[in-house]
Amino acid sequence: MTKRVLMTGGAGFLGSHLCDRLIAAGHEVVCLDNYFTGSKRNVEHLLDHRRFELIRHDVTQPILLEVDWIFNLACPASPVHYQFNPIKTVKTSVLGTLNMLGLAKRVKARILQASTSEVYGDPEVHPQPESYWGKVNPIGLRSCYDEGKRIAETLCMDYNRANGVDTRIVRIFNTYGPRMALRDGRVVSNFVVQALTGQPLTVYGDGAQTRSFCYCDDLVDGILRLMVYEGPERHEPHNIGNPGEFTMAELADVVRELIDRDLPVRHEPLPSDDPRQRRPDIERATRNLGWTPSIPLREGLAKTIEDFRRRIEAGEGR
Ligand SMILES: NC(=O)c1ccc[n+]([C@@H]2O[C@H](COP(=O)([O-])OP(=O)(O)OC[C@H]3O[C@@H](n4cnc5c(N)ncnc54)[C@H](O)[C@@H]3O)[C@@H](O)[C@H]2O)c1
Repeated sequence: MTKRVLMTGGAGFLGSHLCDRLIAAGHEVVCLDNYFTGSKRNVEHLLDHRRFELIRHDVTQPILLEVDWIFNLACPASPVHYQFNPIKTVKTSVLGTLNMLGLAKRVKARILQASTSEVYGDPEVHPQPESYWGKVNPIGLRSCYDEGKRIAETLCMDYNRANGVDTRIVRIFNTYGPRMALRDGRVVSNFVVQALTGQPLTVYGDGAQTRSFCYCDDLVDGILRLMVYEGPERHEPHNIGNPGEFTMAELADVVRELIDRDLPVRHEPLPSDDPRQRRPDIERATRNLGWTPSIPLREGLAKTIEDFRRRIEAGEGR
């Protein structure tokens, strides 16, 4: 059945990939974005499509649209972007999610909230299952994002319990792929841009901290499965991420292997509140959604590098 879909943050990295998949599946997509970190370029190829519409709007302001599904992705995702205006980041998560839940309630739409592994903070439990409540600093530099996303989850659960809104919550772990902002300050884009422009790769601390990296196509597949999942745990948060864990030093080695083996590594001090390790426990997603990631890091990185190379050569980010 064709759905009328609202994609907030649809001109961003993940939102634009979701728009692609939904259009390809025959749905109507309204993409809403304020272009803070997203860009029309990410959805340029969809602009002439008859089932696609693009609206410049800020989710902190209410909007009325007749839709069946809402994917609420609007929110800067990388520390450099969300710390640029931390109060605006809190407003985007809190007021933006309130507005979208209000809309979902009014038009009886199903709504999926993009949450994050950051709700686990600097975790004492490893890997992190959804039942873990996290260890988050409420007053640190990352709190505007982490606590904003935690409140967004609270709002979803309360709108579901109090008003019967049909909510889904996805806790997204580090995801990478084509269309990531070239200078979003996160490790994959840092390493790839540095390597493609012949600079040393910056590793914070000793490089022993680990992250898991999920390729965007795997993530989008998991999100779409969660949106149509009708089982008893449908309103509970679902971790979607790749459990394959790599140290930053290992990631630097793979990037050097794929681009230039001779590039040196430069060490810098660890930023504050940087989590030491993060790995999703995906048992719930596997059990309920039949989902597991399938794209290995090397393959996903090769596709990402190809996209970054093309954009750098075209002068983007200059
Ligand atoms: N990429 C990841 O690894 C990751 C991990 C965890 C969670 N997430 C979540 O997934 C979502 C998408 O992340 P992304 O990586 O695509 O980031 P992104 O920055 O590329 O996309 C976010 C989009 O939201 C838009 N936006 C920001 N504030 C807005 C506002 N007030 N009103 C309207 N639009 C606004 C931006 O312009 C951008 O297009 C975010 O909610 C993010 O928190 C992403």
